[in-house]
Amino acid sequence: MMAILYPALKMLRNYVRARYFFKPAPLWLDFRVTNKCNHHCAYCSIPSHTADEMTTGEVKTVIDKTKHIANWVLITGGECLLRRDIGEIVDYIKTTTDMQVTVNTNMFLLQETFEKIRGADFLFFSIDGREETHDAYRCKGSYSKVIEGLEFLKHSRSTMRGLLSLTVLHKGTQKSDLEHVLQLSDQYSFGANFQLIRHYSASGRSQEIDSHNAYGLDLLDYLLEQKSRGRFITNTTKNLKILKDIACDINIIPCYSGRLFCYITSEGKVALCFSRPDHDRYLNLRDKRVTFEMALQRLTEIRPERQRCPGCTCTTPIELATFSFFDFQMISETLRTFGWGTQPK
Ligand SMILES: C[S@@+](CC[C@H](N)C(=O)[O-])C[C@H]1O[C@@H](n2cnc3c(N)ncnc32)[C@H](O)[C@@H]1O
Ligand code: SF4
Ligand code: SF4
Repeated sequence: MMAILYPALKMLRNYVRARYFFKPAPLWLDFRVTNKCNHHCAYCSIPSHTADEMTTGEVKTVIDKTKHIANWVLITGGECLLRRDIGEIVDYIKTTTDMQVTVNTNMFLLQETFEKIRGADFLFFSIDGREETHDAYRCKGSYSKVIEGLEFLKHSRSTMRGLLSLTVLHKGTQKSDLEHVLQLSDQYSFGANFQLIRHYSASGRSQEIDSHNAYGLDLLDYLLEQKSRGRFITNTTKNLKILKDIACDINIIPCYSGRLFCYITSEGKVALCFSRPDHDRYLNLRDKRVTFEMALQRLTEIRPERQRCPGCTCTTPIELATFSFFDFQMISETLRTFGWGTQPK
């Protein structure tokens, strides 16, 4: 009973603090535990980041400092399964905190490392569409590893609560790619999430792929239609509509980064989001004097001046911003996604 009650109260407290008192209280942490990767995806700049990586002990310190506030933590990278201590990190979170843990991976090393991450609550993997699209933008042979990973999970008697995918929409994406992901989602029972490519990325390579998001309109209409037919798409309907506005350069949603969401970089800095990891005013949790509250307070001072940064298409802060509207349909869709209701078939 307490295992459900305490996280629920913590979530409510965070929501009230952020929504009504404008205090930073992240429900969700993205924790980038490495920049290293075994892929070089065309739109991703992370493997070129040279910032250092924390030791196991330092990662545990970050977890200790954040656990009284955050409800969910996404362990991400780079490719987090490259870390030899990934099992120790997942187990530490599960045994010393009440946070839900999601492991974010490209699936390349899933079978070799699965025993280490078995204790995670959710697995979140990337798929960009049909094999030719996926391999063209990610890495040759990567698509077959995803399918092997899905087959493996089907037979692994995994006790994880859920399997989620992420598909980046870019100008190489076709409706047949989306249909392919949705067919796999039916076949392997995973929730499929879709996001627009971000241009605010440090390397600028995503700019070479797409200089604007207008290509996304048809794709998002297709996803809205499929969602209304009950396909297991984890973006809420409102989120897909907001992404459509963003594809038309209408930014109606303010940024909630630093309030309901924040990002921890590989070297321990508390950052606004994935797209802005390098601000020199961020505080670092590796510094013994820095508490999580101090680092969050700093974020409120450096939040985007105009509510959103140019070119931002970040999904998590958008999703949390829509959450802050307390929209009943959106909340019921979210609860369904995370398994507290009936999943659409
Ligand atoms: C940075 S990766 C880390 C986890 C793992 N390496 C993977 O690829 O799933 C997390 C997600 O960010 C997405 N991503 C990378 N660069 C992006 C960009 N410029 N715009 C939108 N999404 C991006 C990837 O496709 C992936 O689904
Ligand atoms: S998207 Fe993931 S797999 Fe691809 S380069 Fe970036 S971190 Fe690596
Ligand atoms: S608007 Fe917010 S989520 Fe978007 S890039 Fe800026 S800080 Fe990040």
